[in-house]
Amino acid sequence: MSNFYVTTPIYYVNDKPHIGHSYTTILGDILARYHRAMGDDTFFLTGTDEHGQKVQKAAEARSLTPLEHCDDTVKRFQELWERLGISNDDFVRTTQERHKKVVRAILQDLFERDLIYKKEYKGHYCVPCERFFTDKDLVEGNLCPDCGRPTNELCESNYFFRMGQYRDWLVDYIQTHPGFILPDFRANETLGFLKKDLEDLCISRPKSRLSWGIELPFDTDYVCYVWFDALINYISTIGYCGEEENTKFAKYWEECLHLIGKDILTTHTVYWPTMLHAMNLPMPKHIFAHGWWLTGNAKMSKSAGNVVNPMDMIGKFGVDSFRYCLTAGMVPGQDASFTEESFILRYNTDLANDLGNMLSRVVKMSFKYFNGLVPPCDTLEDIDKELLAEAEKAIPAVMDAVRNIRLDKGLDAVMNVMRAANRYMEKTAPWTLAKNGETKRLATVLYTAAESLRISSALLLPVMPGKMKELRMALGFSAEEAVKADYETLASTRLVSGSAMVDIAPLFPRIMVEKEDSACNKKQPKAAKQEKAPAPAVEKKAKEEEMPVGLISVDDFFKTELKTAEVLEAEKVENSDKLLRMQIKVGEEVRQIVSGIAQYYTPQEMVGKTIVIVANLKPAKIRGVVSNGMLLAAKDGDTLKLVTIDGGSFKSGIPVG
Ligand code: ME8
Ligand code: MG
Repeated sequence: MSNFYVTTPIYYVNDKPHIGHSYTTILGDILARYHRAMGDDTFFLTGTDEHGQKVQKAAEARSLTPLEHCDDTVKRFQELWERLGISNDDFVRTTQERHKKVVRAILQDLFERDLIYKKEYKGHYCVPCERFFTDKDLVEGNLCPDCGRPTNELCESNYFFRMGQYRDWLVDYIQTHPGFILPDFRANETLGFLKKDLEDLCISRPKSRLSWGIELPFDTDYVCYVWFDALINYISTIGYCGEEENTKFAKYWEECLHLIGKDILTTHTVYWPTMLHAMNLPMPKHIFAHGWWLTGNAKMSKSAGNVVNPMDMIGKFGVDSFRYCLTAGMVPGQDASFTEESFILRYNTDLANDLGNMLSRVVKMSFKYFNGLVPPCDTLEDIDKELLAEAEKAIPAVMDAVRNIRLDKGLDAVMNVMRAANRYMEKTAPWTLAKNGETKRLATVLYTAAESLRISSALLLPVMPGKMKELRMALGFSAEEAVKADYETLASTRLVSGSAMVDIAPLFPRIMVEKEDSACNKKQPKAAKQEKAPAPAVEKKAKEEEMPVGLISVDDFFKTELKTAEVLEAEKVENSDKLLRMQIKVGEEVRQIVSGIAQYYTPQEMVGKTIVIVANLKPAKIRGVVSNGMLLAAKDGDTLKLVTIDGGSFKSGIPVG
């Protein structure tokens, strides 16, 4: 058992979180969950970067104080992380006193040791990037080398951190510590940057220009440069300089893995290491820079207006599938292009077909032939042993993937097991065994298949905690055991024959892509469409956030997916005079719903009707029967009437709203 500390960048509180931010945070979360399951004492930190010019300006535009503005916008991140099941141990906001006092202490110390000095400075400032550039940094005259927007020329007195003197030390450190910057080619990028002269870093802003920041303890006319302030979060939050110095900081700091996107490589691999070195602190263990999520070929960013809203994606795919598809969809280090089609393809292939289908087959047959109990395991044949060996092989493969931050590879190793398991089912043909009355062999085959699911689901728990809990409970684990993954004993334990399984609704219902008339029929993200409407962004948000109590926004409404459905079959539920069980068609999909309408409609009356259902409701069991959706009806005293489509001739699966 060792210690593990993982951080995400602290995101600009001003931005609306998109799938890029979600990716880094999900990556951090999954790594933290794996390390916890591997027995490591783990600390996972994320948070928000709340100082600087952009925040000041946005607050002014809303007639709020900067802090009021931050208090409001920070919720977007906190709510999204909660929705995504992010298991961070702390959430730092750079406006918190616990952080500010550490920044002030560090500034004072560096100033006293003459590592910070004052000089007059002429430079070019990029407001969106909040960075200074020298003449030779600029591109095409006065454009920012990072974002390409025009810079402003400025001449003022400022404080500087003596960063330049550490260049040789840093080059040497990077060269003698392979793995410090990951992937390796990023280390080369930093070394390339360090070939030029390294200049001292301007770490102050005169209050006359920018007042929203941490005041310099030795000159109250200035505030601290936002990056110098922000980077310190990684140590201030775990108690550096504070009373906790000997606990969390001592325990975790040297085990730190910083996860970042490649956009902030220089600040993390040049500014931050030299700052730490000046403070006489050891370096973090790894700085890992992943690539960008692109829309087409362009980076997703608010300014480019091409962002994908994670809430829309969660609404469509569910939290766990979104976590899975993002993680499997990027080779960390490289860029990845986001399209909804590729997400749906991955979902249908990996989750609906390979994994979900496997579970359904095993559970259904165990219910049909073994009363819903984990079947007994008789003598294993070679083909059984091969599948078990394949599953066991995935354990070290996933552990390696976690250590090398190649989760995409780890997930592939697990999906390989599921593909092998599906082939195994085709080859052993348990349905034929059942027909021929070969019960012992049938039991062994189902047991072996269930075993492959047990191992795979344990390996997938950190990625899809909710869905894997359901899956494991279906295999007969108690709720408590279902969420535990002990990788040390994973290969040496076995499912307990005779445990009660749970007959659950399809874990990952297939997503149907309707090719015809997709323009009007496909479940388009209506909320997203509206966001693209040309409304001034800040004003619109302000309006939404001032929603009176009791009212919901249109985005909230569209979280409920209402659809037309056609009733194919209907029958009364046994031993109930209220419930009807119906097979309904929703587009290409057929599902079962249970509804308390038997006293108002006969089964015969229901068949052929086009009704309206809530399509994205979590499946529930009513009197032991699974209901996958809910129909809409209105009840007035003793009368109940279904909500239907005027004229009734619409086909099924059409969005209502
Ligand atoms: O830079 N693809 O915050 P930020 C992948 N406050 N990841 C992306 C992405 C994309 N298209 N867009 C953003 C800042 N990210 C500073 C950090 S840390 C001391 C201060 C992710 O809100 C990625 O992790 O601009 C990137 O590095 C980070 O969000 C930038 O977030
Ligand atoms: Mg950014």
